[in-house]
Amino acid sequence: EKRARSYPHEFSGGMKQRAMIAAAIGCQPKLLIADEPTTALDVTVQARILELLKDLNRKTGLAMILISHDLGVVADICSRVVVMRNGEVVEQGPIDDVINRPRHPYTRLLIESQPGRKSYGTDVGPERTTPLLRVENLSVTFPAGQGLFGGFRSSNSFRALDGVDLEINTGETVGIVGESGSGKSTLARSIIRLNTPSGGAIRLDGQDVGALGGQGLTAFRRRVQMVFQNPYDSLNPRLTIAEAVAEPIWRHGIADRKAARKEADALLEMVELPSSLRDRKPQQLSGGQCQRVGLARALALKPQLLIADEITSALDVTTQAQILELLVRLQRERSLTLLYIS
Ligand SMILES: Nc1ncnc2c1ncn2[C@@H]1O[C@H](COP(=O)(O)OP(=O)(O)O)[C@@H](O)[C@H]1O
Ligand SMILES: [Mg+2]
Repeated sequence: EKRARSYPHEFSGGMKQRAMIAAAIGCQPKLLIADEPTTALDVTVQARILELLKDLNRKTGLAMILISHDLGVVADICSRVVVMRNGEVVEQGPIDDVINRPRHPYTRLLIESQPGRKSYGTDVGPERTTPLLRVENLSVTFPAGQGLFGGFRSSNSFRALDGVDLEINTGETVGIVGESGSGKSTLARSIIRLNTPSGGAIRLDGQDVGALGGQGLTAFRRRVQMVFQNPYDSLNPRLTIAEAVAEPIWRHGIADRKAARKEADALLEMVELPSSLRDRKPQQLSGGQCQRVGLARALALKPQLLIADEITSALDVTTQAQILELLVRLQRERSLTLLYIS
């Protein structure tokens, strides 16, 4: 109830999905179609949202079509399953039959690519020197009481980060894990100065990032880059993907526009995007392709530190595996220091 006055950007993914479910069941439908309702959420929040859907089904007899790439999720709450590929139904039946005795090779592939079946070794071997990045006692607070009733501001504010300490050495891969709303993105955004800390400091090579301005800040932006959770949100819908990748290069004065375009082509090749896609806009790409563009763009300035904020959570499992493999390859080839949020 307290959250009813908030705007969507102040919500975590799980909260947004609850709001959507509330809106969908508001007019008491007989059939609810839920299209990947938990794909962008972490496991604990996912479990709660699924529990909520199951409950609705039990208590109100609401019929449900649950669309998901995740057979585990389907097995958890559905009684029947229909497996699709390339616009066709390849198999259907009671969930137990399909999972225990899959008849189609694609269904078997889906079962095999369930997360947790594969591990990715990434570390390129840390050199123990001064840490590349040091986060010291970092706090971030957001003002509460923003929302519908404009001028109103309550005095209590919301503390999203509370005294966070973290060190990353050159060449290291550090993972950040926590459920939705735990402050992972706030931390990442603070490191690249998209959020202003209310306390503490961030140092890159010992230099206080918060104090940077002008040229120092420009140099910092070249050294630290981030790939965002939602591939479509992070790209300008008006630019073609080749333009999007070239933009940081000429904007930072590394090359003129023409040379930047050539460099962009090389970067897109590096992330294994077919050249036929280069003149498309982001909305004409799949999520996985878009995330490849995000990686190419982040690497355009040859950063030392790459922050990857749930870059696969909006993708299906097979695409997730491909993007992770790409990330690991790029990290090795470019000896990147990696902050990986999941
Ligand atoms: N701009 C903002 N204004 C108000 N609250 C915010 C804002 N951004 C994030 N929050 C809140 O801070 C908390 C942490 O959010 P976030 O860092 O996005 O979590 P995570 O990335 O771990 O899911 C959440 O409760 C969220 O609602
Ligand atoms: Mg996040």
